[in-house]
Amino acid sequence: MGRALNPTATLVVVNIGQLVTADPRLPAPGVIEEAVLAADGEHLVYAGPAAGFEVATGPDTVEVDAGGAAVIPGFVDAHTHLVWLGDRSEEYAARAEGASYEEVAARGGGIRSTVTATAAGSLGELVDAARERARRMLLLGTTTVEVKSGYGQTLGAELRQLEAARLLAGEPGLPDVIPTYLPLHGAVDGDRAEYLEAVLRDGIPAAAGRARFVDCFCEIGAWSVEECERLLGAGRAVGMGAKVHAEQRSHSGGSALAARVGATSADHLDHATDGDLRGLAAARVAGVLLPGASLVLGGPPPPGRRLIEAGVTPALATDCNPGTCWCESMPLMVSLGVSTAGLTPAEALLAATSGGAHALGLVDRGRLLPGLRCDALVLETRNWLEVGYHLGSNPVARVIRGGRVVASA
Ligand code: NIG
Ligand code: FE
Repeated sequence: MGRALNPTATLVVVNIGQLVTADPRLPAPGVIEEAVLAADGEHLVYAGPAAGFEVATGPDTVEVDAGGAAVIPGFVDAHTHLVWLGDRSEEYAARAEGASYEEVAARGGGIRSTVTATAAGSLGELVDAARERARRMLLLGTTTVEVKSGYGQTLGAELRQLEAARLLAGEPGLPDVIPTYLPLHGAVDGDRAEYLEAVLRDGIPAAAGRARFVDCFCEIGAWSVEECERLLGAGRAVGMGAKVHAEQRSHSGGSALAARVGATSADHLDHATDGDLRGLAAARVAGVLLPGASLVLGGPPPPGRRLIEAGVTPALATDCNPGTCWCESMPLMVSLGVSTAGLTPAEALLAATSGGAHALGLVDRGRLLPGLRCDALVLETRNWLEVGYHLGSNPVARVIRGGRVVASA
């Protein structure tokens, strides 16, 4: 929070043509014309009309001139598998020739091949590979990124992935990192019951201090509702929030599970029914849409419109991973949210910012309001609509994270 009642700003962004605040009290996405933004340290002390700006500035105040461009909240990418080694480009080509995701996995490709490649590298190599992706994310406007394990699948290898996420979290010039423990991802070699028991007995206590959430791939060929429910219950017992990969490839029952255990989010949802979505709304579970993965794998469109109609808060995320969607771009997800998931541009922008924060249980970011973190993007353009409209572009001129300019185009 701001340090004083009448603070001296450490950062001021002036000459903002359109300030997108994501303030829920304003018509979405909360635009204020001719605005100023000011931070004292990491937090905002002003986000409003230039005419009403009265925060003191001093010789040390950094001033950024937006030159009439739009400013929006930093993107919150609430679902990624950022830490991996190896290359699955041949699988990508095989799928283009007609092989399904499941067929590739049955032949020993898929998650299993990433697990093998990831195990073969050192911790330093893992961190280097993930850092490169995280840096690209930051340059595309992501100021907070969730990072899952899931390519370890032995207790030690899963913890090593979390360690890589922890090392990234301490680095300047990258997004803030929120780690998630995903021990039930691809099917494991050996006895699955034994693996699950070991995860519950040893994995969860070890991960509890290292990850905020526990997650599972609830799917035919991966992990059952019963197995996932045991995992999420064990996580909850040690204070970890729950996430579920639900209804991605089939109607797996993952969203009913997410509602039953009070998960923070249910993710994918491509095969979710309207009843599933009403259940999520009643349990106040966020719905994370991953339109890049839906596009790459084919199948039903992501249910953006249906989430809104059911009363579920939607988030948009990249799912950045080597199998179903290697993509670091949240602006592209905003475009796909509109063109494939049925969201309006305002809904898509909110889903990529405040929606992402909601899907991570974070109340201190995702909107540009006094008291919240100053994570903001100065755009190249005067019109915030171009974030999604200009397909495949990078609309970001400057990235501000925690009240400091951390990247400039
Ligand atoms: O979210 N569905 C499970 N996990 C990832 C894909 C992982 C992979 O294929 O490597 C996803 O799409
Ligand atoms: Fe995923």
